[in-house]
Amino acid sequence: MNILITGGCGFLGTNLVHFLAENRPEYHLTVFDLLTYAGTKSNIKRLISEKRVTFVHGDICEPGQVSSALDSGIDMVINLAAETHVDRSIMYPADFIRTNIYGVQVLAEQCRSRSISLLHMSTDEVYGSSDDDESFTEETLLQPSSPYSASKAAADLLLMAAHKTHGLDVMIIRPVNNMGPYQYPEKIIPLFIDRLSMGLPVPVYGDGMQIRTWLHTEDFCYAMELAIDNLVAGGIFNLSSKNEVRNIELVKKLVAMLEQSEDLIRFVDDRPGHDRKYSTDGSKFMNQYGWMPRFDFDKALKKTVDWYRANPDWLKKHHTKEFEEYCRKQYGSL
Ligand code: TYD
Repeated sequence: MNILITGGCGFLGTNLVHFLAENRPEYHLTVFDLLTYAGTKSNIKRLISEKRVTFVHGDICEPGQVSSALDSGIDMVINLAAETHVDRSIMYPADFIRTNIYGVQVLAEQCRSRSISLLHMSTDEVYGSSDDDESFTEETLLQPSSPYSASKAAADLLLMAAHKTHGLDVMIIRPVNNMGPYQYPEKIIPLFIDRLSMGLPVPVYGDGMQIRTWLHTEDFCYAMELAIDNLVAGGIFNLSSKNEVRNIELVKKLVAMLEQSEDLIRFVDDRPGHDRKYSTDGSKFMNQYGWMPRFDFDKALKKTVDWYRANPDWLKKHHTKEFEEYCRKQYGSL
């Protein structure tokens, strides 16, 4: 099978490309990536030089570029190209509308006209914040709170419309928060590992009592492998785990693992529109594929911290002018 992975140099993309190259050598993998601030080509340099992956520099919003990449006999597109950071979506919503909505529409049209399957990555954030003991199913009303989650919800609706109208062979996955190697250090886990390793304070939004559900990228990749082999056309699936953890608990664990003092924890202004809790019911995917996450929260966090500690240069490489500028805007003089 010939698979094109958009955003294959980003966080989930890099993890999936490594996983499939290792576990499914019979697939031919093409990475299609614009290499924006969060995409790092060197993540997959070895695989490109060993000719296990073909790299194409391109933008999902450019139909001509997508079209020529698909003309190399692609059977399936996995769309991991997206603007993903909620805080940036509040600062620069137009970028999110362009890539996450318009770009997805371009992919849908290009796939449909060639009868190529599309496995699209959405998010649990499309449902908005959950009340205390409520877990969202795939049927729950979409009530996104941020420009990011609204753009992802819009893309899901466009894809389902393309499935109904044109028979687009599309499957949508809505995963919980992922942790693992190669995550750009604007997200809480790599950002806090980076700052704590330098002895710098870490900014906890609001009261830190918000709850996120976590998955290790290895479990994510293993779920993707199952979906690739048996795509359910028109199917929407939550991808979830039991690892529901309050931000403050996560931060305290990071502080302990990095042997720092809790004095470095700073409670700062809350994120506008901050969802208190994400909790999704993942039983539909589990029943369909017999998938269960293998990593509980503590094992996943330890494995993640170990990777960043073993790869300090990867984090250092991301201390660019752009990143410093973003941190200044987001965190002021912290
Ligand atoms: P994040 O990693 O941005 O992922 P998402 O918003 O997609 O869930 O944030 C995870 C949680 O951590 C979220 O509740 C916001 C919080 N957070 C902080 O408290 N401080 C920070 O500096 C960041 C980046 C996030």
